[in-house]
Amino acid sequence: MAPHVGHGQTVAKIILFGEHSVVYGHPAIAMPLRTLRMIARVEPTDGPGTLSGLGWTGPITEAPARFSSIVKAAEVASDFAGHPGAGLNISTESEFPPERGLGSSAAAAGAVIRAVLDAFDTPATPRELFDLTQEAETVAHGRPSGLDAVATSAEAPVHFQAGQATDLEFSPDAWIVIADSGVEGSTRETVGHVRARFEAEPDIITALLNRLGEITDEVVVDLRTGDVQGMGARMTEAHGILGQLGVSNTQLDALVTASLGAGALGAKLTGGGRGGCVIALAATEEDAENVEKALVDAGARGTWVHAPATGQMAGEVMQ
Ligand code: MEV
Repeated sequence: MAPHVGHGQTVAKIILFGEHSVVYGHPAIAMPLRTLRMIARVEPTDGPGTLSGLGWTGPITEAPARFSSIVKAAEVASDFAGHPGAGLNISTESEFPPERGLGSSAAAAGAVIRAVLDAFDTPATPRELFDLTQEAETVAHGRPSGLDAVATSAEAPVHFQAGQATDLEFSPDAWIVIADSGVEGSTRETVGHVRARFEAEPDIITALLNRLGEITDEVVVDLRTGDVQGMGARMTEAHGILGQLGVSNTQLDALVTASLGAGALGAKLTGGGRGGCVIALAATEEDAENVEKALVDAGARGTWVHAPATGQMAGEVMQ
């Protein structure tokens, strides 16, 4: 079949537990947000190709640095499809903001890879799609754990460790409120910061990372037994440890404090940190509404509420 317009889709993700420690081989739990989509469209062309996304449109050769993983994604997918160097007009459309710990970079790379493969009618296994996304993500994040690449194309919450993902049998039986601090966080920078601290103070940082790993293991038990109180307490503990690692900031701390003050069972930053989003756990829909309101009052720029069991987004406020 001749090359044609191709489409690809991935979704946003949140890391419930294990950001940063996952880079050091510890387990993590992440959840796809199936209603916040990243959509890519790719049109093969004779020319050098164009890029359109994040409010920028222009020749692909002049794409700013923030598009580096998308450009790499198109390159590795064209190679894989047997059309190295193919001219492509690429556009991405996102239902969630970039640089907020919601997996925008892995989601964009994954969607573009799927669109390129669709355009050239090239099948790929989930493992091949993961490897291609990782190759593209390496440009953006250095040495990504692979958690974002997995979670942005998952159907259900995943347990992830050392490159291996398994579906979790149990989803949290509670409401999750997600709040955007409005501050951009660079995962490359925060991962680099933790690495520098790890090299300078290995004993202290190893102990903190080990505790984050244990927390994830404990949460697997909480999920199995339906202990949402325990899970909430571990969320807040994890936030404190991430703060000690130096990846929180005053806005994220203020959002966590506001959530707890409004009755959340626990709250923490999610993703790379020093900006981006916090997540808060609420026992009931009413509690989730109170937490959401408190987060908006404390300066959140956008909020999303994730209902238990069905996994549907219950509501959305974007300011
Ligand atoms: C970023 O969403 C998650 C980090 O753990 C980095 C990674 O897993 O590669 C901070």
